[in-house]
Amino acid sequence: MNAPVPPRQFETPADRYRRVKDPTLEELLHIPGQPKKRIPFLYTLRFLKDPLGYTRANYEAYGSVFRRGDFAGWGVTLIGPEANELVLFNKDRIFSSEQGWNAVLERLFPRGLMLMDDPEHRVHRKTLGVAFKPEPMRHYLGELNDGIARGLAAWPSEISFYPAIKKLTLDLAATSFLGIAWGPEADKINRAFVDMVQAAVGVVRRPIPGTAMWRGVKGREFMCAFFAREIPNRRGREGDDFFTQFCNARDEDGKLLTDQEVIDHMNFLMMAAHDTLTSSLTSTVYYLAKHPEWQEWAREEVKAYGDGPLSYERLGELERVEMCFKEAMRLNAPVPAIPRRAVKEFVFMNHRIPAGTHVGVNPMLTHRLPHIWPDPDRFDPTRFTAENSKGRHKYAWVPFGGGAHMCLGLHFAYMQAKAFFLELLGRYRLSLPDGYQADFQMFPMPKPRDGLPIRLERL
Ligand code: HEM
Repeated sequence: MNAPVPPRQFETPADRYRRVKDPTLEELLHIPGQPKKRIPFLYTLRFLKDPLGYTRANYEAYGSVFRRGDFAGWGVTLIGPEANELVLFNKDRIFSSEQGWNAVLERLFPRGLMLMDDPEHRVHRKTLGVAFKPEPMRHYLGELNDGIARGLAAWPSEISFYPAIKKLTLDLAATSFLGIAWGPEADKINRAFVDMVQAAVGVVRRPIPGTAMWRGVKGREFMCAFFAREIPNRRGREGDDFFTQFCNARDEDGKLLTDQEVIDHMNFLMMAAHDTLTSSLTSTVYYLAKHPEWQEWAREEVKAYGDGPLSYERLGELERVEMCFKEAMRLNAPVPAIPRRAVKEFVFMNHRIPAGTHVGVNPMLTHRLPHIWPDPDRFDPTRFTAENSKGRHKYAWVPFGGGAHMCLGLHFAYMQAKAFFLELLGRYRLSLPDGYQADFQMFPMPKPRDGLPIRLERL
């Protein structure tokens, strides 16, 4: 069972269109795209087998606007920076984020910030913003530095990187997100949380005993109970973790979030932060291990930084590390596709798209369009120097989205990445086993199927 969802305080534009039906295939037939199949699920299977190749093939066959069959029925994909700007900036308030993401996340992460539309979204985003101000951020950085140094010191010289960074990111979240110490309680929370995240991206959408969704629903019950128990201890107290900050955050009218709102925002925040960081750090490590010349280039800067740990005042430094991180997210966008639902009809590139259509933009393919990114499959961090970025469309690179829903944790993500690489590159030389061929699963989030074997040679 999901925890009860409190009544809404606002009438959102999405509410008004909530009962607009999904358009039928016939209503979308004027848009170029995949023909009807007797078993539409076959499209899903082809997509899952090779998400990038399949999306690229559709783009090449049909152009920047194409109809697609997917998990939930028929929808339309829009490719390119102009599409990203239209949908993410959402100037004409055409798109609902809540109705786009609900299909994937509602059962396990209902009422997270990304699952809200204006005006409700604006109020909540502002209220939560207090936890991303410089003072708490400075504190999180201290926790990150300590945790990273402790975690890395325990890594052996050959590791399966993905599970190792996943565990480290979870442990780091125990202190900076929840304000609890590493240990058995944090381990239990981590397990429940991992079950929720796995269920959210699972194929079976009902909580049938034995399935990931069933474990996810149980995980949610556990997490909700943990937060509900802890909230009274955090109200009215000082604390520099996200959870305590949310418990004491007030909106413009001075009102605190309700217990249920704190629970929903915390569950969502942890999900939004966890797999994205795990995926992006893994991709960066992979490309640096694969390209020793770029690794050395980044290490020169790390050495020039001097003795760590990373200081909050010097976050603007480590520009090369930042460029490597950005380039890895270009090649392996942690959120490969961003869903929305059109709440009114609109026209894009001469295609009329009816109200109710599930619309997706696609950072994964936009980040590899050759007219924007020459030789797009090549890892080259200098694409992100100020000089080389000149004239590039603002929405050509969108790993963090854009517009009102742009990632709220983006500075936290850069901070964790810099703290991590300062320690990692300063301590170890990274390499891959001889003849290693990477095999990244690109959807729902980029992840190496074999865990990514990495050698760490002490410097
Ligand atoms: C490399 C790491 C990360 C990536 C690539 C990433 C990516 C994204 C993207 C693409 C969105 C917007 C989705 C949309 O428009 O539908 C988003 C939203 C969000 N992210 Fe992140 N994220 C990362 C890390 C984090 C972290 C560390 C946190 C928290 C500390 C966080 C918190 C959020 C929140 C709260 C939202 C919802 C914002 C809103 O709807 O107003 N993210 N993220």
